[in-house]
Amino acid sequence: MSITNELVLKALSKVNDPDLHKDLVTLGMVRDIKIEGNNVAATIELTTPACPLKDKIEQDCIEAIKKEIDGVGLIAITMSAKVQQSKNQRMNEILPGVKNTIAVASGKGGVGKSTVAVNLAVALALDGAKVGLIDADIYGPSIPMMLGVNDNPKIYQDAATGKMMPLENFGLKLMSIGFLLEEDSPVIWRGPMASGAIKQFMSDVHWGELDYLIFDLPPGTGDIQLTLVQTIPLSGSVVVTTPQDVSIIDVKKAVRMFQRVNVPIAGIVENMSYFIAPDTGKRYDIFGTDGGKKLADELSIPLLGQLPINQNIREGGDSGKPIVFNKPESEQAKKIIEISRKLAAEISKINFSSAPKIELEF
Ligand SMILES: Nc1ncnc2c1ncn2[C@@H]1O[C@H](COP(=O)(O)OP(=O)(O)OP(=O)(O)O)[C@@H](O)[C@H]1O
Ligand SMILES: [Mg+2]
Repeated sequence: MSITNELVLKALSKVNDPDLHKDLVTLGMVRDIKIEGNNVAATIELTTPACPLKDKIEQDCIEAIKKEIDGVGLIAITMSAKVQQSKNQRMNEILPGVKNTIAVASGKGGVGKSTVAVNLAVALALDGAKVGLIDADIYGPSIPMMLGVNDNPKIYQDAATGKMMPLENFGLKLMSIGFLLEEDSPVIWRGPMASGAIKQFMSDVHWGELDYLIFDLPPGTGDIQLTLVQTIPLSGSVVVTTPQDVSIIDVKKAVRMFQRVNVPIAGIVENMSYFIAPDTGKRYDIFGTDGGKKLADELSIPLLGQLPINQNIREGGDSGKPIVFNKPESEQAKKIIEISRKLAAEISKINFSSAPKIELEF
């Protein structure tokens, strides 16, 4: 019996995307089936290059083809990705080349929001996604420093459109509210001013094509933050917290703020979860144990991950060389990469849940 496209599709319809809970054929992910004699090649187009289950899905495809097709020879599966466009209409109008926007927020200051935002952005870019980062923290823009960009870089205009060109570093496109401020001039921000500045970042910056545009929001859940999350059309949000009780109370406020404006919560990142003493290897839960995890369970929100307090993470921020870029093999960088992939998967799930259903027959 000769091998046909239908047989390959039938085999691949036995493979599920574990995040989207549908098979690859129904999800429309199977591309370019090629059959030469007994050899089979196919491409699987995932919804993000940062898919945490890429290797598993590839292996499942190979096994399904082996199992379903008698006498199959060589099997070559190519994994590719096309990030899904958010179904948010307003986003498509305001940011036409941008597929997804993600706000990184925290109920209170100093919990590591900017550190997490920067490293998640770099991690997604390292996985091959096109990523932009907007530092919208009016109280203290810190991302330029964390990415090794000085406070007052020259901003160029795109010749064709007249729009501002974002800076580029570590494979990211970057704009910071700090670039718009005069040096050393104190600014008292009010909601309309902050939303005006953020609107300018969305409409007057030449972002080009982006899979993910990440916003580092000012800490807290006051009027300004609420105005910003109403102004930015968002695919989803990430809330950063420490495991402490006092932080947890503020996380609930942040979650409520996003719910008020109908922005899905992609997940919680628990930062400064524990400290491993480098000399003894002993673990200390300095800010308490599992606060973010318990809260995620209680609110039925995904816990994207728990990050330790670690000198490399801090030094990465201070030196302008994010740990995921500078020390990608370190335990801490691996944890951040894992979190970034979970985030990408959650965003795919959010987009998928509002996508029209496709039913394929063969
Ligand atoms: N996991 C970590 N391990 C060690 N140091 C960390 C970690 N996370 C953040 N830090 C350090 O803690 C400080 C505060 O972090 P960061 O600026 O990211 O917090 P933030 O929530 O953005 O603060 P703000 O509310 O001021 O915007 C920084 O010096 C950063 O390097
Ligand atoms: Mg910050």
